[in-house]
Amino acid sequence: MAGIRIAISLAVLTGHALAVNNGLARTPQMGWNNWNALGCDVSESLLLDTSKTLVNSGLRDVGYNYVVLDDCWSDGRDEKDFLKVDMKKFPSGMKSVADEIHREGMLFGMYSSAGEMTCARYAGSLDYETNDAISFASWDVDYLKYDNCYHMGRFGTPKLSFDRYKVMADALNATGRPMLYSLCNWGEDYSHTWGMSIANSWRMSGDIYDSFSRPDDLCPCSNAADPHCIAPGSHCSVMNIVNRVAVYADRGQPGGWNDLDMLEVGNGGMTDDEYKAHFSLWAGLKSPLLMGNDLRTLSANALTILNNPAVIAINQDPEGRSITRVRRETDAAPDKYGAGEIQVWSGYLYGGDQVVILLNAGGKDTKISASLAEIFLHEGPEGSAPQVQEEWDVYDLWANRMDTDLAQKILDADTADLPKLFKEANWYNSTEISYKEGLKKNDPRLLGKKTGKIAPGGSLTVKVDKHSAEMFRLRSVGTGGKRKVHSKDEL
Ligand SMILES: *[C@@H]1O[C@H](CO)[C@@H](O)[C@H](O)[C@H]1NC(C)=O
Ligand SMILES: *[C@@H]1O[C@H](CO)[C@@H](O)[C@H](O)[C@H]1NC(C)=O
Repeated sequence: MAGIRIAISLAVLTGHALAVNNGLARTPQMGWNNWNALGCDVSESLLLDTSKTLVNSGLRDVGYNYVVLDDCWSDGRDEKDFLKVDMKKFPSGMKSVADEIHREGMLFGMYSSAGEMTCARYAGSLDYETNDAISFASWDVDYLKYDNCYHMGRFGTPKLSFDRYKVMADALNATGRPMLYSLCNWGEDYSHTWGMSIANSWRMSGDIYDSFSRPDDLCPCSNAADPHCIAPGSHCSVMNIVNRVAVYADRGQPGGWNDLDMLEVGNGGMTDDEYKAHFSLWAGLKSPLLMGNDLRTLSANALTILNNPAVIAINQDPEGRSITRVRRETDAAPDKYGAGEIQVWSGYLYGGDQVVILLNAGGKDTKISASLAEIFLHEGPEGSAPQVQEEWDVYDLWANRMDTDLAQKILDADTADLPKLFKEANWYNSTEISYKEGLKKNDPRLLGKKTGKIAPGGSLTVKVDKHSAEMFRLRSVGTGGKRKVHSKDEL
C-alpha cells in the first residue's frame, strides 16, 4: 500500500504518468525496418549495407538511428530453450551485427511475437520471455518490436492482452539493459489505453499497405474508428489508419506513442503527393517514423521526403503532443474509390507555435480554409482561445524541400565527396544539434519558409491538390515564438 501511495504522489509531483520508465522514446523513435519492402528476405549483409546507406545518405543524421530487423531471423530453439540465430542468414551472429551497427553510430532493433510462433511461423516468445530477453540483451539489442500472431487465444480483454505483453516488459527490464519496447498488437483490446504503462509505443491498427485510400477486405475496421474491431488485418491504407487514430490521437506522450506502423514512402504504390501527405500526418500524429523502403535502391524523390527537417522537427517536438483533428468533411469530391474527404488537423508545439495540416483526400483539387478559431479549438472552443486574437506568421514546411538533383548527387557520390555535398545542401545534422536545441535557436531549416500572415480573427486559406496535404507552422508575431511552454517535463 505504501508503495502504491508513493507512486501516485510521485506521478502528481512530476506532472506525468509513471509509465514504462526505461528513459527511452522521449520523442517518437526513428529508424528503418525491413518488413514493408523486403518481408522475410533478411540477412546480415542487408542490415550492414542498409546501415552504410543510412550514414551516407545523411538519413542517420536527420534522426533515423534505429536499424530494426523484423521477422524470419531465427532457427528454432536449442536444448536449453534459447532461440537460435539462423547462421545461414547471419553467419557472424547477432552480437557481431549489433557491434557493426553500433560502430556506425546507430542502435539495433529485433523482432519477436507474443505467441507460440511469429507471424511468419518462426519460434515465438510466448512463455519463453525470460530466455528471449536474456538473448536480446546478450546480443546488445536496443529495441524489441513485439508482434501478436499465434497468441494461443490469450486475448479478448484488455487485461489478457496487457498481462501477456507485460511479461516481456518485465523480462526486458530484468536484464538491466534499456531496450525500447515497441508493442505490436494492432490496437486489439484497447492497447491505446494501457500500452503507455508497459511500452514505448503501441500499434493502433492493422498493418499498413502501400496505398493512400484503397479499401481492402483484409482491413475491415474502416472509418468508424471502432475500438471493438474484430480483425485489424493487414491491408490498411494511410486514410484508414488516420481515421482510426483520430479518436485517440492525444494518447501519446514522451515515453510512449501511438504507432501508426512503418512508413511506405519510396515503395512505389503512392504518388509523390500521397507520400508527402502520409509522411506529414505520421510526423504530426507523433508516430514512430520507421522507414519501410529498401534503402539500397533509395530514390532521390523519396530521400527528399524522408529528409525534410522542418517536418521531422514537428515529430521530434519536445512537447510531444500529437495533432488532433479539428474538422472532418466527408462530402468532398469523391476519389477513384468513391470516397472523398477534407480534414483539418492542428497541434500545439514547443514555444507556443502551432502546426496545421490541411488534408484533401478527395478526388479534386480544392481550396481549404481554416479559421484561427478552428485551429486553436483545443486552447478554447468557439473562438474563445486568446490565440485567436493574435497575428500569426505562416511557415510552409514543404516549401524548402530539397532539390531532387542535389539529392541524386548525394546518392551517387563517393564517400569523400559527401561532406561538401551535405554542406551545399545545408543539411540539418541532428547528431550535432538536437531538434530541441535547433528549435530553441530558431534554426531556419526547422521552420520552413515564411509564406504569409494570418490577421487576428482571420483564416488560413490554401489550395490543396487532390490526395495531398499542406503543412504549416504558425508562429505568433507578438511573442516571436517565445511563449511559455506548457509542459513541465524538461526533456
Ligand atoms: C553530422 O555530424 C556528425 C558529428 O559531427 C558527423 O560525424 C557527420 O558526418 C555529420 N553528418 C552530416 C550529414 O553532415
Ligand atoms: C526497470 O524498471 C524500473 C522501475 O520502473 C526503472 O527504474 C528502470 O530504469 C528499468 N530498467 C530498465 C533497464 O528498463
